[in-house]
Amino acid sequence: MEKFLEGKGAIITGAASGFGRGDAIRFAELGANLVLADVNMEKLEETEKLVKEKGAEVLIKKCDVTSWEEVRNLAKEAFATFDNIYVLVNNAGVGLDFKSIIAGSEDIWDKTFNINLKGQWLVAKAFYRKMKMQKFEPLAGKMINMASIAGVKIDPYIPIYSLSKMGVIGLTELLAAQLAPKITVNCVSPGYHVTGIYNWDEKIMVGTMEAGGVKTLLDRIGTIEDIVKVVEFLASPASDFITGQNFVVDGGIVSGGVPSHL
Ligand SMILES: NC(=O)c1ccc[n+]([C@@H]2O[C@H](COP(=O)([O-])OP(=O)(O)OC[C@H]3O[C@@H](n4cnc5c(N)ncnc54)[C@H](O)[C@@H]3O)[C@@H](O)[C@H]2O)c1
Repeated sequence: MEKFLEGKGAIITGAASGFGRGDAIRFAELGANLVLADVNMEKLEETEKLVKEKGAEVLIKKCDVTSWEEVRNLAKEAFATFDNIYVLVNNAGVGLDFKSIIAGSEDIWDKTFNINLKGQWLVAKAFYRKMKMQKFEPLAGKMINMASIAGVKIDPYIPIYSLSKMGVIGLTELLAAQLAPKITVNCVSPGYHVTGIYNWDEKIMVGTMEAGGVKTLLDRIGTIEDIVKVVEFLASPASDFITGQNFVVDGGIVSGGVPSHL
């Protein structure tokens, strides 16, 4: 295996669970120095242990991505610990609403938008300047944002979440244009994968899919590995000429013309 992240730093938000933990373990195998952030320190320490077992250097940090102060401190500490941050994975996110748009609460709107959209914007703002000045060739760095198929096609079952993820896809395009030619910015849109967002309960997730008549063309549900592989591709030299794109990784839900819950 080519350890293409050797000598390179990677920051992953939401690294205590799900895709974030999966990315951290894979990046450790690829030789990266890791900065792992989350609000859940107990679970983040579990991820720390797993990546140390792979031989990675790691800094873990409690950081709420909705707070500019905490995000700025995260960036300061990251660059003080490692001499570069080549990959930024904007992964922290929540799925809180299961009500119609008209019945949704202001509290859920604010929490969802603050974590899922404002959080990614703040983390990009805190890291981009130093990333851009790095001397790596041909790119100084790479950003990877987590969107969702609910951001590709509005999903009335999770409308506030869906709107926040549409924002992530837009944010990705804006950042890609602004940070070119030094930094590429792409996003990944998972479909249905059992993680903390479904309380690790496959029954809850499959029930949600059935309620909406959602099927994958490939006839199975998604795994964490399905997403980690695409994040790895976007962190690798194989994707150096790609920026501003959204990668739908859903087993064919969107392309099969079976929009979730419509
Ligand atoms: N699981 C899916 O099927 C699916 C589908 C589409 C998109 N996504 C997206 O994937 C990303 C990762 O989610 P996951 O499925 O691995 O869920 P998860 O719940 O397992 O992991 C999310 C992590 O984000 C952390 N987090 C929450 N709020 C935070 C905050 N304010 N600051 C810092 N960290 C915070 C959580 O503590 C948790 O560790 C999210 O952006 C989610 O919207 C997931």
